[in-house]
Amino acid sequence: MRVLTTGGAGYIGSHTVLALIEAGHEPVIFDNFDNSSPEAVRRVAELAGRDIELIEGDLLDADAVDRVLSVGNFDAVIHFAGLKAVGESTAQPLRYYRTNVVGTLNLLDAMQANGVCQLVFSSSATVYGTSGASRCAEDLPLGTTNPYGTTKLQIEQILDDLAASDPSWHVAKLRYFNPVGAHASGRIGEDPRDIPNNLMPYVSQVAVGRRDHLSVYGGDYPTPDGTGVRDFIHVVDLAAGHVAALEALPEFPGARAWNLGTGEGNSVLEVVRAFERASGKSIPFEIVDRRPGDVAELVADPSRARVELHWKAERGLEDVARDSWNWQRNNPFGYENSDGDADA
Ligand code: WQD
Repeated sequence: MRVLTTGGAGYIGSHTVLALIEAGHEPVIFDNFDNSSPEAVRRVAELAGRDIELIEGDLLDADAVDRVLSVGNFDAVIHFAGLKAVGESTAQPLRYYRTNVVGTLNLLDAMQANGVCQLVFSSSATVYGTSGASRCAEDLPLGTTNPYGTTKLQIEQILDDLAASDPSWHVAKLRYFNPVGAHASGRIGEDPRDIPNNLMPYVSQVAVGRRDHLSVYGGDYPTPDGTGVRDFIHVVDLAAGHVAALEALPEFPGARAWNLGTGEGNSVLEVVRAFERASGKSIPFEIVDRRPGDVAELVADPSRARVELHWKAERGLEDVARDSWNWQRNNPFGYENSDGDADA
C-alpha cells in the first residue's frame, strides 16, 4: 500500500517507515521537522536500501495538506505528527490543541476530500489517565489529566464520530504505552530536542555522560520497589504493530482502539539496572519527590491486538537496554553534527 506517514521522520515514525518498506509497502514521509531531523530520513533510506519520498510541510497549512492528498494517490495514512510532551502541554495548551487537534482536522478534511479513508492514528495510553487501573484493556473508561492527553482523547472522539458518519472510514486508534529502544543497527533512535522528559532517554544520556545523574520521581509508590511501574515497549515491536494494524484495517470498518504494549511491567529501578548491565556504566540516581500527575503503575492488556491484529511484542527490557545503549553510544548527540554522510 502507498501510505502517507505524517511525522514519519520522528522517533516512532522513522522506525515504522522502515518496517513498512520491509513489509513491501510504499511510505511517503510528511514532516515539518519541528521535532525530527532530515538525517533520520537519510538513515532510514540507508537501512532500507532505497530512497524514500519526503514532503516537508505542516499540517496547519490546510491547502498544502489538501494538495498532498490530491496528487499523492495514497491508499492509507499513518498519522504520527503532533506534540507530545506532557509537562510542556500544561504550559502551552493552545499550541497543543492547535497543533494536535486542528492539524488532525486539516488532515481528515484532506483525506475525505480526496477519498482516502484508511487511517492508523498514533494515540496513547495517557487516555487511561484517570481510570485508576494499573492494567488497561481498551474498554476502560477514558479520561485524561493533561492537555496533551486530552488532545489524544479528543482526536479519538473525532475519529469515532467521523467513522459513525461515513461507513467508508476504517480507523485504528493505537494506544502506545511507553515506547523505548532503537533499531538494532544503532543508526536510528530517539533524539529528544531538549532535556528528556521521559525515563529511557534520560537514563541513556546519563550513561553516555551528558547528564550527571537520574532523578527518580518517587520511591514510595505501592509497587515492589516503591518506584513507578510502566509497560516499556520496544519501538521496533511498536513499528510492527503499525504494519499489522494497517494490514488488518480492511477487516475493521469504523474506528477501533488497540493497545500496543508488552503486557509486562517494569519499575524505574529495574530499568536503571538493565541499562547498567547493557552499558557497563554506573547510573547514579537520587530518589526525589513524586512528579505531579504520575500514577504508580500503568501496564497494557495487549490481548485484543494479539487476537485481532495477530501481533505481540517480541522484545523485552534487556533488548531495549541493549539497543538504546547501542544507539546512544554511537550517537551521543543524536542526529545533530551529522554531516549527512551516510557513513558518518
Ligand atoms: C516513566 C516512569 C516516572 C523520568 C509519558 C506520557 C505518555 C507517553 C510516554 C507520549 C514514571 C519515571 C521519568 C525521570 C523518573 N508519551 N521517571 N525520572 O510518564 O509513563 O508516560 O511518556 O505518548 O503519554 O504520559 O513516561 O518516561 O516520563 O516516566 O523517575 O527523569 O519513569 O515517574 O514512573 P510516562 P516517563
